[in-house]
Amino acid sequence: MPDLINLTIDGRAIQAAPGTSVIDAAKYAGIEVPAFCYYEGLTLAAACRMCLVEVEKMPKLMTACTLPVGEGMVVRTETPQVAEARKSMLEFLLSNHPLDCPVCDKGGECELQDMTFRYGAGESRFTETKIHVDEKQFSPVVFFDNPRCILCYRCVRICNEGMGVGALGVINRGAISEIAPNKGDHLECDECGMCIDICPVGALTSGIYRYHTRPWEMQHVGTICTYCSNGCKTTLGVRNDEIIRGNNRDRSGINGEFLCIKGRYAFDFYNHPERLQAPLVRVNGKLEEVSWSKALQTAAAKFNEVRERKGKFGVIGSNHTSNEENYYLQKFARQVLGTGNIDHHRTGDVRTLLDALSGKMGKLATTADLYRKKAVLVIGADLALEQPFLSFQIRANYRHHQARVYVVTPEPVREDKYAAAGLRAAPGAELTAVESLRGRLRAEPELVIVYGDVLKGEDVRRLVDFGESLGIPVQYVCLVDGSNSRGAVDMGLLPDAGALALPDMLAAKDLEVLWVVGANPYASVVGQALSPANPFLVVHDLFLTETAQAADVVFPAASAYEKNGTVTNVCGEVQRLRKAVGAMGTKPDLEIMGLLAREMGVAAELGPWIPDTIFAEIRKQVPGYDVPLPVLEMGGAAQTAAVNGRLPLDGRPELIRSAHDNLFTAGTLGRYSKVLNSVVERHGYR
Ligand code: SF4
Ligand code: SF4
Ligand code: SF4
Ligand code: FES
Repeated sequence: MPDLINLTIDGRAIQAAPGTSVIDAAKYAGIEVPAFCYYEGLTLAAACRMCLVEVEKMPKLMTACTLPVGEGMVVRTETPQVAEARKSMLEFLLSNHPLDCPVCDKGGECELQDMTFRYGAGESRFTETKIHVDEKQFSPVVFFDNPRCILCYRCVRICNEGMGVGALGVINRGAISEIAPNKGDHLECDECGMCIDICPVGALTSGIYRYHTRPWEMQHVGTICTYCSNGCKTTLGVRNDEIIRGNNRDRSGINGEFLCIKGRYAFDFYNHPERLQAPLVRVNGKLEEVSWSKALQTAAAKFNEVRERKGKFGVIGSNHTSNEENYYLQKFARQVLGTGNIDHHRTGDVRTLLDALSGKMGKLATTADLYRKKAVLVIGADLALEQPFLSFQIRANYRHHQARVYVVTPEPVREDKYAAAGLRAAPGAELTAVESLRGRLRAEPELVIVYGDVLKGEDVRRLVDFGESLGIPVQYVCLVDGSNSRGAVDMGLLPDAGALALPDMLAAKDLEVLWVVGANPYASVVGQALSPANPFLVVHDLFLTETAQAADVVFPAASAYEKNGTVTNVCGEVQRLRKAVGAMGTKPDLEIMGLLAREMGVAAELGPWIPDTIFAEIRKQVPGYDVPLPVLEMGGAAQTAAVNGRLPLDGRPELIRSAHDNLFTAGTLGRYSKVLNSVVERHGYR
C-alpha cells in the first residue's frame, strides 16, 4: 500500500491515500463539503463551484472535488470567505431559477433549497425577467423542467456511466445550455429513473410521483423489490396506506441507490382495479364471491376428504412468495397431504451447481463480488435487460476497478461495449466458446462466472470442471428469474424422487386436488401450453389469472409489499420483506395456509404460521440458512452458505427454463402494472 498523505481539514489531522480528492478525504473524516456536480462514483464535472475551500498557501479558493490531497496541506471548509463564495454561487444559480419551491416535487429534499437555507442567497441582485420554458415530457416516466436545472450534469453521467445507456446529453452552450433526450423530443432508454433520483433539484421529476405528496407526509418502509431475482432493496414511500413512490436514496441494502423501472415504479400493480378482494368458490360452474370462512371450509373439506382416502394431491408454489411461505407450503404438502408432488417453475440449475461444488467453500459469489472481483465471465444472458442490478454492478466494477469482463451470448449485449472479449455463441455452443477463452481467463487473478439457463445438468458440471481447472479462485452465480426463485429451490418446492413435476401434475388424469400458491401454470408451462386435466383446483393469487379462472376455490393473496418475511436473491443473499401497506380483503399466503390447516384440524402438526417463528425453523432445518439475524434486522443481506448436497439432484434439468423477462415485462405482475405497460421500448439504444 502506498504511503498515506497527511493533511489537516478544519483543524483535524487526516490521512488519505495519494490521489484522493479533498472532498472525499473530508467526507471520510465526517466533514461534509457542499457539492452539486460532484457525485460519488461518477466522473468529475467541475461545473458548479459549490465545493470551494480555502487551502493555506494557495492564492485563491480551490474546488475540493478536483483537488487531490497533498502532504502537509491545510484545508478550511467553512470560513467567511468560503461562505461568501458559496453564497455568490447560489445567487448565480438562482438567477434564473423559478421560485416554485411550494409546488416543486423536490421541496423538502432539495439540495439547492438546503444550501440556500444554509448560506443565504434569498435576495437576488438580478432584476431581469426570468426566462420561462415550458416543462417537457421526455417519456411516460421522465419529465424535465428546464428553468430548475442547475446544469450539474449528474443526470447525463449516471445515464451514461452508471446505466451504460447514454440517453441524456446537453444541447446549446453557455447560458442556454439544456439537458436533452436521445431521440430529439423523447427518451428511448431503460426508464430506470436514476437520473430523476440523482437530480439535486426538481428539474427531472417522475411521472409516477409528481404532485402526489410531500416527502415529510410519507412513511418510508424498506423492503425488497418483488420482481426479478436480484433482490434490490426499495424504500416505499407510504401515505394513508397507499404506496406513493419507491426509491433507495439512503443507499442502504445491496443495491445502494440502484433500482430499475420495476423496483422504482412498477409497484402500481398492487392497487390495480382488477385486484381480487374476496375469496371465490365455484358454484354451479361459476366463480362466486364468498366469505373467507366459506372458502376455507370448502377447500379444507375437500383436502380432508381426499387425504383420508389417500387420493392424489399436486402442489405448485411460486417464485415470488416468501421463504416462510414456501417452507410452510412444502411442509404442509409433505407432512399433512402426504405428497411429494410439489414443484414450481424452475428457472436456473442451482442444484447441479451446488452438487458440482461439493466440498468446496466460498464458491458462490455475492452481488458485492460482482463489483469488486477482478474479472467476470457472463454466459448466455442479456444481463442489462434480464438482471439489471447485476449488470449495474459489473459495469461499475469496470468503471471503478477496470475489471475485465468476458461475454458469451447468442446476441449482442450491453456488456459488449466494455468487454475484454465479447463472443457470440449459438445455443449449445456456449461451452466451446468459453473454452476458447481459457488462456485469457487463467491469466486473471480471480474470476466470477455468471451463467443463465442455457447451461443445465451436465453442462453445469462441465462449466465447473472448466472453472476449477483454471488454477485461479473462481466463484459462480447461477441466474434465476423471480424475486424468490432461489428461495423456492432452497425451501424444497421440488418433487420428491419419482413424484410428479409441474408439467406432470397438469397432465395427470388421476390428480384429485391441485393447489397452486402464487403461480399461473395454466397460462403456459415452461414454454409449452398444456391442456390440464380437471382436478379440484385451489389457487392463491392477486388476480384472476388463467389458472384462477379455472379454479374451484380462489383465495385473494397479499403481494410481497403487503407482508413480512424473507426472500433469497440470485446470489443466495437473504433479506427481509417488510409490510408497507395492506390490501383490502387479502391475506398473506402464509396466513391463508395457516387458516386452512386450522380448518382441517392439522394446524398443530405444522406449528404457528408466524413468519419469524418459521424463519427460526428454517435457520435450523434448511442447511446453509443459519444466517446471522442482526444483519437481517438491520436491513442488510446475509448470504446463505453453499452447503453441498443440501438439495437432491434435478432429475429433469430440461424443465428448467427462464421466462427471459426484460426490463418492461414481468409475467402476471407485469401485466397489471400500468407503468410497465405504458413504456414500450424498442431497445434500439443498446
Ligand atoms: S431513466 Fe434511466 S436510462 Fe432513462 S435517461 Fe434517465 S438514467 Fe437514463
Ligand atoms: S436536470 Fe438535474 S441532474 Fe440534470 S443537469 Fe439539471 S440539475 Fe443536474
Ligand atoms: S433489478 Fe430486479 S430486484 Fe432490482 S429493482 Fe429491478 S426488478 Fe427489482
Ligand atoms: S462539486 Fe466541485 S465543482 Fe461542483
